[in-house]
Amino acid sequence: QRPPRGSKAKFILIAVNTRVVVLLSSKTTSTVLNLDKIQNYLIMSAPLAFDGKVVVVTGAGGGLGREYALAFGERGASVVVNDLGGDIKGGGKSSAAADKVVEEIKAKGGKAVANYDSVEDGEKLIQTALDAFGRIDIVVNNAGILRDRSFGRTSDLDWDLIHRVHLRGSFMVTRAAWNHMKNQKFGRIIMTSSAAGIYGNFGQANYSAAKLGLLGLANTLAIEGQKYNIHCNTIAPTAGSRLTETVMPPDLLESLKAEYVAPLVLWLSHDQCQENGGLFEVGAGWIGKLRWERSQGCIVRNKNQGMSPETVRDQWDNICDFTNATKPANINESLATLVEVLSRLETDEGIVPNPTSAMTTAASGISPLEAVGQKLPESTFSYSHTQCILYALGVGLSTKDDQHLKFLYEGHEDFSCLPTFGVIPSQAAMMDGGLGSVPGLNFDFTRLLHGEQYLELFKPLPTSGKLTSQATIADVLDKGSGAVILLDVHTYSGKELLCYNQYSLFIVGAGGFGGKRTSDKAMSTVAPPNRAPDAVMTDTTTRDQAALYRLSGDWNPLHIDPSFAAMGGFKSPILHGLCSFGFAARHVLKQYANNDASRFKSIKVRFVKPVLPGQSLQTEMWKEGNRIHIQCKVKESGAVVLSGAYVDLYAATDGSPQVLLESGGLKSELVFAEIGRRIKDLGAEMVKKVNAVFGWEITKGGNTAAQWTIDLKTGAGALHKGPYSGKTDVTFTVSDDDFMEVVKGKLNPQKAFFAGKLKVRGNIMLSQKLEVILKDYAKL
Ligand code: NAI
Repeated sequence: QRPPRGSKAKFILIAVNTRVVVLLSSKTTSTVLNLDKIQNYLIMSAPLAFDGKVVVVTGAGGGLGREYALAFGERGASVVVNDLGGDIKGGGKSSAAADKVVEEIKAKGGKAVANYDSVEDGEKLIQTALDAFGRIDIVVNNAGILRDRSFGRTSDLDWDLIHRVHLRGSFMVTRAAWNHMKNQKFGRIIMTSSAAGIYGNFGQANYSAAKLGLLGLANTLAIEGQKYNIHCNTIAPTAGSRLTETVMPPDLLESLKAEYVAPLVLWLSHDQCQENGGLFEVGAGWIGKLRWERSQGCIVRNKNQGMSPETVRDQWDNICDFTNATKPANINESLATLVEVLSRLETDEGIVPNPTSAMTTAASGISPLEAVGQKLPESTFSYSHTQCILYALGVGLSTKDDQHLKFLYEGHEDFSCLPTFGVIPSQAAMMDGGLGSVPGLNFDFTRLLHGEQYLELFKPLPTSGKLTSQATIADVLDKGSGAVILLDVHTYSGKELLCYNQYSLFIVGAGGFGGKRTSDKAMSTVAPPNRAPDAVMTDTTTRDQAALYRLSGDWNPLHIDPSFAAMGGFKSPILHGLCSFGFAARHVLKQYANNDASRFKSIKVRFVKPVLPGQSLQTEMWKEGNRIHIQCKVKESGAVVLSGAYVDLYAATDGSPQVLLESGGLKSELVFAEIGRRIKDLGAEMVKKVNAVFGWEITKGGNTAAQWTIDLKTGAGALHKGPYSGKTDVTFTVSDDDFMEVVKGKLNPQKAFFAGKLKVRGNIMLSQKLEVILKDYAKL
């Protein structure tokens, strides 16, 4: 069909069936639309009607209330026009005012009844609605009086009357309507506050207090009513009325018409309006919404120390600095700040301005809050034995040593990939330039130094394959002289986690943005024992060591181009830090693991000074159980180049963590098994850090499926399965699936708690320490 000739219609609708219509334009194009969408559109664009709705407007005999009542009546609502008909100070009583408005509504064809009770008799007002119209949908708490006095002269009566009419009156009327609204799963409530309450006003102490009290009342009703579709909003109107005629000049009084307020009240009362808990200033045909703003604030005490008024004084400017202020929207956000502060105090040493969450420095563009948790694009890395061998040569293996053949000859019966090759695929993830595009990391990346590296293998690396790596910003730290980005990279073969790398990237000159100094996400360096090394191994790098190593994927010209190196302040190209790292690792592997790559668990190093190709690397080793502490020096100069370093080996017998894969039906079993193993390794350290007993009830399908207790309080720690006879400091109940989400870092424990997914009994603050226990198990 075409639009009829001469018609101005641009479109014509053809119903194809009851759900789908075709929209044809006069220019031949056609669009198929879903009928629900059209209905929605028609509803949303239709005039706002109140047919079938019953509204009580208090104090509707004059001023703003009268305007609301007339507007509701005009749009089909049945209106209870309440007014006591007294004077503005709360004296006297008359039915005339309400009757007059009822007549006006009826004259226009509307439905209305009068009620002359005081709002303090809330039940009676609501009963009038029920008697006359059978229900109550909307309450507009508007009745009001004034008894202005300077504060010192405010009498008990001035105070009490104001509170009785405004605050108690609104409470009485609203409470009387509440259960009816709850039962019918619909209700709209308006509270009338005032600029005097929000900002204060000379001579209105009583009135300001009552008016802002109404906002507090509304805030809570908005929360309690939400699930019953009862919405409660607050307005602070300004309009000419008998209440304002003494304080406003006549011209202004005339222009600030009550009809410029009523449309907001009608919209907030409509069933289409989803606003709940809002506060609006309204007048003169303008409406604005208000919310809270909070400064970043300042932690004013040190860990384990009291708090003093002097520190408060000294940090006053920081406390009150609204730069990068936040806008907490609910009590959970407020509480979350305190929880975060407590966790900061655990990890940070000192007093920090701007400690809470964001720490955005708009000027520097550094926002840990925004950056942390961001993922870089996933990267893939395909390799064959060629890359393994090239890497092995790059870190100095040579056919001169026949033990090295297994890493250099693909035909060898034990042909293996060097464990530290694990950094290569992860590097690809980082080098693809993803870091620069992470929001909140507006750094000058030309000033980036590789500060530290941690690598952990969960399986021996295959000698060929296609691996995927996922890099995540684990944390951003402020070290004063620079910033540190902790980048976690997990590398997978298919779905199987092969290895985990943590890069500490130091950006010179980017510190001072007010961030925290330390992070419990950081894999820390450890000082070697205070004795002469148990073993020392030395290797000379060749003049072309860097030229060879770079073929494994780090193409930075700093390692080959003399003029580029000169720009960086080096007299010649330097060796890659990760090349020295490879040298040191294989020294340990040879000294303590008989070159068995499957014994290699993890390595951590800090890069201290550069090495020049051709210099000799000397690795000093100290064996402490399965941990080999290492320090690497340039033999010629004696300069330490790798410090705080260690290699952890898997014990000769227990193999790799694959044993753990023989788990029961629960995914969490795997994680607890791993936790158990780590407690064996590092229990004493964890006990020091955590000092608490955690109980876990893992549920499946609503039933408790497993119980675990992690004792990090006694001795060197222990993991216990099944019912526990001792006392736990805190017990968590969580489903197997949600537990895994928390472990994978996809679900923050605090959020899980607030979302009701994680139930906590006992000392909830200890949930802060969960990260120490649960970190690094992601995707096990
Ligand atoms: P208004 O004096 O014209 O209207 C208030 C009405 O409430 C009067 O008709 C009065 O008889 C009635 N009333 C007083 N006590 C009552 C009681 N105990 N029970 C039942 N009815 C009672 O004043 P206006 O300006 O229309 O004020 C309406 C509301 O707006 C008040 O709550 C007022 O505090 C608030 N407001 C008004 C502003 C303005 O610029 N007009 C500024 C800020 C707030």
